[in-house]
Amino acid sequence: MRSSIYGISFFFLFCIFPLVSGQLASKQSNTMITVSHQLANSSWNVEKEQNPCLWEGVTCNAPHNDSILSLSLSGFGLSNSSFLPLLCQINSLQSLDFSSNLFNSIPVEFFNSCGEIDGLKSLNFSKNMLVGSLPTFQKFVGLESLDLSFNSLNGSIDSQLNGLSALKSLNLSFNHLTGSVPSRLGKSRVLEQFELSLNRFKGEIASEIWEHGNLIKIDLSGNHLNGIIPESFVNLTKLETLILSSNQLHGAIPAGLLGIATLQRFTANQNNFVDLPSTNPSMSLKILDLSYNKITGRILPQLLLGSTLQIVDLSYNMLTGPIPVTISSSLVRLRLGGNYLSSPIPSTSFVSLPNLTYLELDNNSFTGTIPPQIGSNRKLALLNLAQNKLNWTLPDESLNLTQLEVLKLQLNKLSGEIPNQIGRLNMLSVLNISWNSLNGIMPPSISNCGKLINLNLQNNGLTGLIPDAIGNLKFLLELQLGENKLHASTFQ
Ligand SMILES: *[C@@H]1O[C@H](CO)[C@@H](O)[C@H](O)[C@H]1NC(C)=O
Ligand SMILES: *[C@@H]1O[C@H](CO)[C@@H](O)[C@H](O)[C@H]1NC(C)=O
Ligand SMILES: *[C@@H]1O[C@H](CO)[C@@H](O)[C@H](O)[C@H]1NC(C)=O
Ligand SMILES: *[C@@H]1O[C@H](CO)[C@@H](O)[C@H](O)[C@H]1NC(C)=O
Ligand SMILES: *[C@@H]1O[C@H](CO)[C@@H](O)[C@H](O)[C@H]1NC(C)=O
Ligand SMILES: *[C@@H]1O[C@H](CO)[C@@H](O)[C@H](O)[C@H]1NC(C)=O
Ligand SMILES: *[C@@H]1O[C@H](CO)[C@@H](O)[C@H](O)[C@H]1NC(C)=O
Ligand SMILES: *[C@@H]1O[C@H](CO)[C@@H](O)[C@H](O)[C@H]1NC(C)=O
Ligand SMILES: *[C@@H]1O[C@H](CO)[C@@H](O)[C@H](O)[C@H]1NC(C)=O
Ligand SMILES: *[C@@H]1O[C@H](CO)[C@@H](O)[C@H](O)[C@H]1NC(C)=O
Ligand SMILES: *[C@@H]1O[C@H](CO)[C@@H](O)[C@H](O)[C@H]1NC(C)=O
Ligand SMILES: *[C@@H]1O[C@H](CO)[C@@H](O)[C@H](O)[C@H]1NC(C)=O
Repeated sequence: MRSSIYGISFFFLFCIFPLVSGQLASKQSNTMITVSHQLANSSWNVEKEQNPCLWEGVTCNAPHNDSILSLSLSGFGLSNSSFLPLLCQINSLQSLDFSSNLFNSIPVEFFNSCGEIDGLKSLNFSKNMLVGSLPTFQKFVGLESLDLSFNSLNGSIDSQLNGLSALKSLNLSFNHLTGSVPSRLGKSRVLEQFELSLNRFKGEIASEIWEHGNLIKIDLSGNHLNGIIPESFVNLTKLETLILSSNQLHGAIPAGLLGIATLQRFTANQNNFVDLPSTNPSMSLKILDLSYNKITGRILPQLLLGSTLQIVDLSYNMLTGPIPVTISSSLVRLRLGGNYLSSPIPSTSFVSLPNLTYLELDNNSFTGTIPPQIGSNRKLALLNLAQNKLNWTLPDESLNLTQLEVLKLQLNKLSGEIPNQIGRLNMLSVLNISWNSLNGIMPPSISNCGKLINLNLQNNGLTGLIPDAIGNLKFLLELQLGENKLHASTFQ
């Protein structure tokens, strides 16, 4: 009798539960339980929690929770991928995340059966150990995001991605892929994110890519691409980020590129570009990096004027002429080292730029004095004017830069004395004024710069005693005072 009562209540539970509080469809539940046995992972354990919707990484369609929407097995330490096709029986899936595991292959059956899931929008196999050629995603017509980054996929890309007509985001970065950059992606041209950095792609960038007018981000850095950036680029009217660093691209940068109104970041360092774009940069541009190219000519004044500009790096090119007299007040970092820039540094260029933190003008041919106005950029942490032809003295104003951590003035023609106020720079860790023509004594106040690690005053005309207080610089690793006329205290 008792047992039949229990029988009835169990019967009720199983019938009513799905209607009252929601329960996963039994087919999906069974699939999950089968998979959990294969995973042998304590966090997917039907003994501990009967409802798979409450397992780690499982998202169901709350509040009913009668079907599974997404599965994340990210970081589960899995290496055996043979269970993957089983999951394709869950036809309500929208997102599958298998990132950060140890898979070295994906069963072919997975592509056949998961490709049938119409609603599947996102697939993430990033950070596994996948080898061999790129699989074919023929049936995945609804897929919007595919992330296969950080694997060891090799070979070239032919038609594997052709079926992905809804693709918005493709990430194949950090693999060993070769051949040409795939161009027929997302037939409806809905592609927004295109990340192929750190592979072995070669050849020219096919012109079709520039026809994907919805692109927001392109990263092709760290490949072996050559050729030019075509004019058709200007049609990418939604582009925010363009990264082309470390390739062999050449030619002139298309005039209209920096004018794309949405463009925030253009990074194309380490290529063979020869010309700076001549149009005004867009009012969105924040980061411009064209360092380590072969760019000649002058820095056009408008290039450094954008009211949103934060980082400009034009170092190691062949730029000539002076620095523009006006520079955007939003700049945080300016690097112009390793060019052939000349003339005095204009006294108006660097005045009270509130956020300027890194200024590197080293290894050029600047003449005249260090403009005292440099001292008005209160946030400066790094000032590198080394290896120029700057003469005269170290302006007192520069010693007001109390945030300064690195001051490099070596290999110039500075003369006069080191002001005693140098001790105000108590954040300094590197002070290099070697190879100048300084004279006078070594100010004892230098011992107030208690964070100094490198102090190099080598090859000047300094005289007198080396202050004993130098011994208080407890972080000092390198002290170069040679080729002066200094002598040590007899009591040391
Ligand atoms: C549905 O699942 C979510 C977790 O995915 C859980 O927080 C919620 O309590 C579940 N609702 C029901 C009715 O089981
Ligand atoms: C189970 O998965 C978790 C990730 O949630 C992982 O930390 C754990 O090491 C896994 N356990 C086993 C036995 O693989
Ligand atoms: C992977 O898992 C399947 C199913 O559990 C099993 O048959 C197979 O032997 C496993 N493979 C390896 C290499 O452990
Ligand atoms: C894929 O997973 C990795 C690691 O969890 C994550 O960093 C990345 O953002 C994911 N990709 C997408 C497109 O969400
Ligand atoms: C791809 O890598 C596999 C092993 O990881 C290797 O056997 C194969 O030859 C490689 N293919 C190409 C085209 O490099
Ligand atoms: C791959 O690129 C996509 C799109 O930009 C991004 O959301 C995702 O986080 C990237 N994956 C990794 C592992 O960084
Ligand atoms: C930009 O796109 C339009 C059509 O949308 C096309 O007519 C024009 O030729 C394209 N411009 C370039 C430079 O490719
Ligand atoms: C300086 O930086 C601050 C904080 O990032 C920002 O709010 C401010 O607008 C910047 N100033 C200029 C002139 O860009
Ligand atoms: C100075 O710049 C020239 C030309 O760019 C370069 O060849 C040289 O290596 C640079 N010197 C240093 C010390 O950086
Ligand atoms: C500094 O250099 C400028 C030109 O480069 C020169 O006219 C001036 O006489 C020099 N001043 C000193 C003190 O050497
Ligand atoms: C240096 O800063 C002090 C206050 O910190 C100020 O009184 C003085 O005018 C500044 N000197 C220069 C040259 O900017
Ligand atoms: C200081 O300048 C000298 C001369 O160019 C150079 O050899 C040395 O490495 C520099 N030291 C630091 C810490 O910048």
